[in-house]
Formats: sequence, C-alpha cells, structure tokens
Amino acid sequence: MEVITALDFDSIDKAKALVKSVGSHISYYKVGLELFVSSGPAIIDWLKSENKKVFLDLKFHDIPNTASRAVSAAANYGADIINIHTQGGIDMMKMCVSELNNECSKKGLNCPLLIGVTLLTSLDDEHLSTYGIGGYSSAGYVLKLATLAKECGLDGVVSSAKETKVIKENLGKEFLTITPGIRPLGGDITDQKRVVTPKDALLLGSDYIVVGRPITKAEDPAAAAESIIKELNC
Ligand code: C5P
Repeated sequence: MEVITALDFDSIDKAKALVKSVGSHISYYKVGLELFVSSGPAIIDWLKSENKKVFLDLKFHDIPNTASRAVSAAANYGADIINIHTQGGIDMMKMCVSELNNECSKKGLNCPLLIGVTLLTSLDDEHLSTYGIGGYSSAGYVLKLATLAKECGLDGVVSSAKETKVIKENLGKEFLTITPGIRPLGGDITDQKRVVTPKDALLLGSDYIVVGRPITKAEDPAAAAESIIKELNC
C-alpha cells in the first residue's frame, strides 16, 4: 500500500516546504483544488523534478465534452493519477476514458490512472437521506457508483476505507481503491466523517491511503509520516 500526502496549501512555497521537511518518508503527493488553483501546474513540474509521484485531485464533474477535455489536458501535466466524479454520469465517465486514451496514444504520454470519486468521506447516510437518495446506505451507494465506474472503464475509485472490502469482493482485487479520511488513533477527525486508521485501511485492502492534516498540520511532519509508515509495516 502507498501513502499519498495531500498538499492542501494555498501557495507553492508552503507545499515545497512540506515536501522538503517530510523528505524520503513519502514519495506520493496529492495536488488538490486549493493548491492547483493557487499555483497552477508549476507544483506538478517541481514534484516530478524531485522524483515524486503526483495524484492530481481536481475531481472533474461536468458535461461529457467538458469533463473529457479537462481530463485530456490534465494528462499532459504528467500526473500519475487523475480523477473525475462518478456522479457525472455514464456518458461522462465513458468519454473521459476514451478521450484520455486517445490523447495519451496520440502524444505518446504515460497514461495516468483514471479514478472515480464516489461519495466524499465528509458525507454519510444522513446526507443521502437529506438529498433524497433513499434506500441506500453509504456503503451500498459507494458500491453502486464503483460498479458503474468499473463498467465505464475507470481504473478504480476514491472511497472511505470502510468500503474497500465490499468493493474488492464485488469488483475484484485489481480495481483500485484510494482512501482518504485516514486518522491515526486518537487523532482529531476534523470535518471527516467516515474515518479509518492507517493500519485498518491496510487490513481492509486499500491500495492507497490519502493522509492530509495528520501529516501537514503536525508539529513535526517528518515524524508524523514516519510513524504512519511504521504503523503500516508492523
Ligand atoms: O486533511 P485530510 O486527511 O482530511 O485530507 C483528505 C484529503 O483527501 C483532502 O485533500 C480531501 O480533499 C481529499 N478527499 C477526501 N474525500 C474524498 C476525496 C478526496 O477527503 N472522497
């Protein structure tokens, strides 16, 4: 399993400082909306020059033409993982897959993994009922979205680690799961709802865990990262 650290910062300088302070403990970083909107693609170039892998977490969600053109454009940045919302619809997911493949083969790019966001880990059963999505638990809804994502040709999904087991059982081990909402034991859960510890995410079968504030807001980010890596190896 790989640990991806979320660089949720408002400037490239802060992101670079965090990566430097964490050092060799982490080799995968997530660039999300805040940092990408603040810094543009320069942060991806810099991470690549530092031999880090990049998850470009922009969660595209739009009509098929617009979303698939954004996915193709993102492939040119050299990110290793990019993502779209599974709730954007079947046509959107299918068009994103085909346009991504076209773009990568036309330009000889390394094709990034295309991952679908299911239900955000900050949402739960109460959200589903408020939004009138009756008859589904969060796990059932996530499995439904993941099943559609697989049928459309996506490489995997983002979900809570609480849903990893049911996804792997139903969709196979090769269908990837990326799981945020990770909190070490005793950590502050802040705005997340469906949280899991790093070790439990490993035992549940997650392929990647996304860890943001438990590392980025720690007094000693390198020590926080090291302790998570140690927990995973014990
Ligand atoms: O700080 P924290 O560990 O909660 O950060 C989690 C990261 O994962 C954030 O960057 C958030 O945008 C992202 N994320 C999430 N839930 C999803 C998809 C992405 O929390 N379903």
